Amino acid sequence: MYSEKVMDHFNNPRNVGEIENASGVGTVGNAKCGDIMRIYLDIDEDSKIIKDCKFKTFGCGAAVATSSMATELVKGKTVNEALTVTNKAVMEALDGLPPVKVHCSLLAEEAIHAALWDYAQKNNIVIEGLKEPKADIHDGEEEIEE
Ligand code: FES
Repeated sequence: MYSEKVMDHFNNPRNVGEIENASGVGTVGNAKCGDIMRIYLDIDEDSKIIKDCKFKTFGCGAAVATSSMATELVKGKTVNEALTVTNKAVMEALDGLPPVKVHCSLLAEEAIHAALWDYAQKNNIVIEGLKEPKADIHDGEEEIEE
């Protein structure tokens, strides 16, 4: 049911944890299952390259695997290039996910966007093509999306 790559990233998730004094932090909730994902970004001020990215989640195995892959994919990219790391791109990199698990892969994409938004707000910059996150949850203040 799951590809080898999904199983690999589930069994050995990359980039789990937190980044102290992160450049941007994004926390989102999944409207379908209520699971939560937080992404931390460490961004180089001059080059705007994402030097490091870590995640923490209350999500399922598919959320762990997709976030692990997504964090690997955004590392080394600029904040603009990071927008190309969509849930579709992540699923492709993992050789697919079962249809019922597609919503889990959205958590990583949305949390990355929320972290980029947080970074942009803190630094007063505009990241072309980045929209304000719909379901960002700040420190326990929950917003449930329909
Ligand atoms: Fe909630 Fe997968 S079931 S993230």
